[in-house]
Amino acid sequence: MRISIIGSGYVGSVTAACFAALGHEVICIDIDEKKVSQINDGYPPVWEEGLEDLMQKHVGKNLIATSDYEYAVQNTDISFICVGTPSGNDGGIDLSIVGAASKSLGSAIASKSGYHVVVVKSTVVPGTTEDVVLPLIEEYSGRIAGEGFGVAMNPEFLREGRAVDDFMNPDKIVVGAIDERSGALVSELYRDVDCEITYTNPKTAEMIKYTNNSLLATKISFANEIGNICKKLGIDTYEVMNAVGKDFRLSPNFLNSGAGFGGSCFPKDVRALIGKAKEMDYYPSLLESVMEVNELQPLQMVELLQEKIPDLSGKTISVLGLAFKGNTDDIRESRSIPVIKKLLELGAEVKTYDPLASENMENVFDTITYCESSVESLRDADACLIMTEWDEFRDLDEAFSLMKGNLVIDGRHLIDPEALSTEIEYVGICW
Ligand code: UDX
Repeated sequence: MRISIIGSGYVGSVTAACFAALGHEVICIDIDEKKVSQINDGYPPVWEEGLEDLMQKHVGKNLIATSDYEYAVQNTDISFICVGTPSGNDGGIDLSIVGAASKSLGSAIASKSGYHVVVVKSTVVPGTTEDVVLPLIEEYSGRIAGEGFGVAMNPEFLREGRAVDDFMNPDKIVVGAIDERSGALVSELYRDVDCEITYTNPKTAEMIKYTNNSLLATKISFANEIGNICKKLGIDTYEVMNAVGKDFRLSPNFLNSGAGFGGSCFPKDVRALIGKAKEMDYYPSLLESVMEVNELQPLQMVELLQEKIPDLSGKTISVLGLAFKGNTDDIRESRSIPVIKKLLELGAEVKTYDPLASENMENVFDTITYCESSVESLRDADACLIMTEWDEFRDLDEAFSLMKGNLVIDGRHLIDPEALSTEIEYVGICW
């Protein structure tokens, strides 16, 4: 089939390359000419495992990029809206980019003769596809939904760093369509993917996405709260959760306590659902607590540090890990940010290292030292805080001995304290 993908961020680039890999003809649309030429040269605008290989293989064959909506719409049957939905000033969702994309898409559909399907893949609050996107497409195309064009909502459940694999091997595909014709066309795109499709209406599809992410975020905050209590009781919370996760009604996944969750999805999506609930005069106390635990959690790292070194003024602290999780260069909502901010407020000097994310963090902090390796970051430091689950931080025993001090605080359960040389004082955030 012929597909156009609006927006070439993480979701759009992966969706485009994976649909191309499934044999479809794909056109990426982006208003950013730099991204367009990057894709046409075979290079993805974002880093994702396996994405460059797919682009190199398909660009120029069944994958191209353009900034011309009319060309893309004329030459495809379905358009996916994959643009950003950032948090607004009030914490609610900012739909201005979705709105702008819908207007451009509607105008392009106006000058097309055949039927076209519009699919929302961006994460949007329940009601957006039918109450915002659909009316804008009708207004700008001069057509009636269900007659001149189809509409569906098809949420993504892609983890950063694993997005290509998650797209090709999903555990669910949700298609929420306004009618059978739209739903059938969207599901046809996934015919070669081995996964059951859940059919529903657009509003329910939108809610499934928010519920999915909110429940995962809730599991993490729950694990962190239990972890904080375990820490006070001198209990290893990982031993507790390993046993709890054996209950067939629960799963052991996403019960790993640590410095909290970050990323482009969990914090933003939970906040958006909170915003939507309040808009309807419902106070979502559980979701508020999920966020509150997550805001306080990274600061536990600094509290533990101050239990050992009360005055941090002039002390050098090595912060290992800047990305919001391992295997990505993404620092959005990274738990390292509040930690570094607090350390700087307390007068500490911060020396940091991350295998991929330093360049991005330079835009946030310009007074800290960005090192080329863990060894360099640890050398002569008074203490070390581990903030991201990078595999290479698991085996730093010798490098720790280069520190001036001997304190290592682990925010991601990466280090095996048994394997450490005796001079290191190891502290786990929740264990
Ligand atoms: C998430 C969802 O998993 C994905 O389905 C959705 O579509 C987008 O949001 P992602 O943001 O890439 O994906 O990150 P994920 O791997 O889920 O981890 C999110 C955060 O939670 C990370 O900061 C991670 O360190 C943290 N985390 C995860 C924990 O602290 N404990 C856990 O047990 C699991």
